[in-house]
Amino acid sequence: MLFGKKDIIGLDIGSKHIKVVQLKETKGSYQLQRLGITTLPPELIVDGSILDSSRVVEAIKELIVNTDIRTKDTTLSVSGHSSVIIKRVTLPQMSEDDLAESIKFEAEQYIPFDIEDVNLDFQILGLAEEDNMMDVLIVAVKRDKINEYVSVVTEAGLNPVIVDVDAFALENVYEINYEIKEDENVALVNVGASMINMNILKGGVSVFTRDSSVGGNLHTEALQKEFTVSYADAERIKREGAIEGISQEDVTAALISASEDIIAEISRSFDYFRDTTNIMNIDHIILSGGGGLTKDFTLLLSERLGIDVSISEPFRNIQIPENFDREYLKKIEPLVAVAVGLALRRVGDK
Ligand SMILES: Nc1ncnc2c1ncn2[C@@H]1O[C@H](COP(=O)(O)OP(=O)(O)OP(=O)(O)O)[C@@H](O)[C@H]1O
Ligand SMILES: [Mg+2]
Repeated sequence: MLFGKKDIIGLDIGSKHIKVVQLKETKGSYQLQRLGITTLPPELIVDGSILDSSRVVEAIKELIVNTDIRTKDTTLSVSGHSSVIIKRVTLPQMSEDDLAESIKFEAEQYIPFDIEDVNLDFQILGLAEEDNMMDVLIVAVKRDKINEYVSVVTEAGLNPVIVDVDAFALENVYEINYEIKEDENVALVNVGASMINMNILKGGVSVFTRDSSVGGNLHTEALQKEFTVSYADAERIKREGAIEGISQEDVTAALISASEDIIAEISRSFDYFRDTTNIMNIDHIILSGGGGLTKDFTLLLSERLGIDVSISEPFRNIQIPENFDREYLKKIEPLVAVAVGLALRRVGDK
């Protein structure tokens, strides 16, 4: 195209926040153009299912207008272990075209869903250790989940061109912002409101992905139960500290206890990773998502797992124009990591 690659927006539809990011690419470097976040009430998207699509459509429309976005082409994502399966498998060597022909047959034994109900994609990773075999990444996404998300995006007046997966979006963000070290294993962990997305990279290459269905909602629910307060109050206490009649000490205790549950889930996934890959050490965790912003979560995570944790910086290598409020960006950047990863995608990428 004459004027560079076509503009695209990254739209991350979470159960708590919808985020949108638009980047401008010039000669392989990126500049932030638009960024917006909107908050959803808790009953619209539950367990990854859109329960009230018309209100989600309205929220997206409003977000697009408020963020002054004029581009229609959109990358969105779907996630969650009940709708997305990502598997690394070893198959006989064949060409990409041949695999495209036979992928349904090859994938069938690895995918726990009915093969007729999923959209399949794959990527050939390279030669396997065994003779005449190759490593392949298979991605299966339930078609009704794709339709559900694509249809709200379409109804909001946008044009969905790519459907991605949160764990891959995190990998995109890592690739452009961090120096890849061959001998380092890094876990990208995104703690949202209702789920955790994980992607473990060995020397920059993904070797394990997993989504779990817990997240920052555990903090909110713990506060609601402990102090008999509304959802809205619990969310406020979580971010701003105790309200009248409640002691900060008790709040901290309730939050820590919920954090322990979330961390136990991450720990179980890491154990499973070690068991299945025989890779024992994880050197570093890069944490994103709003759930990770809760007081003391980072510290606790690092202590419990004995792994160094840092907060994701999705704009490290993205130029920020003067008109953006840097202080605000610094605060919310872990929240928009997935959206940045989606905005980095271009049609035709593999
Ligand atoms: N500043 C903050 N301090 C503490 N918690 C926060 C903060 N900001 C957001 N959260 C919590 O983070 C969670 C939302 O994070 P995020 O936007 O990443 O989730 P989501 O993508 O909407 O949800 P999911 O993808 O899991 O459905 C909520 O539980 C929210 O209460
Ligand atoms: Mg999310």
